[in-house]
Amino acid sequence: MSKEKKGDEVKIMEKRKRYLDEEIHLFRGVMSFNSMTVLSPFAKSTAILSGDLMFRSFPYLDEGRIAELYMLNSKSTRHQLNDLIGVNLYKSPLALASQIKNEERIVDEDRVIQLPPPRDVKERLDRIIQHRRSVRKWADIPVPLQLLSTLLHNGAGTTGELRVTGLASEFFAPLRIHLRAAPSGGALYPISLYLIANKVKELAPGIYKYDSPHHRLIIVKEGLDIDELRKCFSVSEDTLNVREAAFIIVMVADLWKTMRKYGNRGLRYIFIEAGEIGENIHLTATGLRLGTVDVAGYYDPELEEFLGIDGITQHVIITILGGVPEQ
Ligand SMILES: Cc1cc2nc3c(=O)[nH]c(=O)nc-3n(C[C@H](O)[C@H](O)[C@H](O)COP(=O)(O)O)c2cc1C
Repeated sequence: MSKEKKGDEVKIMEKRKRYLDEEIHLFRGVMSFNSMTVLSPFAKSTAILSGDLMFRSFPYLDEGRIAELYMLNSKSTRHQLNDLIGVNLYKSPLALASQIKNEERIVDEDRVIQLPPPRDVKERLDRIIQHRRSVRKWADIPVPLQLLSTLLHNGAGTTGELRVTGLASEFFAPLRIHLRAAPSGGALYPISLYLIANKVKELAPGIYKYDSPHHRLIIVKEGLDIDELRKCFSVSEDTLNVREAAFIIVMVADLWKTMRKYGNRGLRYIFIEAGEIGENIHLTATGLRLGTVDVAGYYDPELEEFLGIDGITQHVIITILGGVPEQ
């Protein structure tokens, strides 16, 4: 081999080695990120577990595989009679009657705010779907109450009713199940919408609960400490500023409304329902030229305390922050 050719080969080898040296870290990183290799058998005695360490230490943590355990324990099989019994019991007129009567809670009229009727969304659905994007920057402009009324109505508003027959008693008649904009397993509607108003025209800052059948708000707490609210969120201010949101819609699930009937499996339905309500809200917001974003970055105990929910039978499933998008 000539001297020049050998020199060329050496250069190529050196170049390859340089590439390897540069890329090996990335390569190792990708390999390790995608591997199930256990990083630390000492995970149990480590105080702070990063998400990564949690993931890699699964076999060492009692609670590590809880998601898989949940999925295994909530499968529907023909051998699980308890699920069948739960579902069938709900077909009885008494179960239906108690479901309906449950809705008729007595509310102090002083704590009620009637919402204006929802507005039409004029834009075509396919265009709205095409244009929907998460919005994380909002202008300092209050949102008209009618737009919020539209978001709540399209998310969880009452849009129809189902007449129930088979109960003779006057006490239960007329029996109607209110049906809502988003589907719900067994029409049990375990999700309530809480509205935290920060900058809403014609609505004082505060916490409200949406009463779907009457399309009204029930005052949960008057006044809003925006700094306290900010502290409930873990999301960094580089991503979004909670204080800038004109409103926050919080989805709160009453687990047993669905789990009484469907057992453990019911929790799956609750998450699905939350997704369906959420998308209705995002699409409506897009059609109304508002900007919204799902935010899962919150501290559960703090937000539960802020809303006044128990955190055991009632849980926050997701929050939606929104406002007029910044131009
Ligand atoms: C369950 C869920 C939780 C989310 N949590 C956050 C969050 O905490 N912070 C945030 O900025 N965006 C959050 N998002 C929004 C996603 O980042 C966003 O949907 C994704 O980047 C795709 O962008 P797009 O919505 O504009 O299409 C969440 C979305 C979902 C569905």
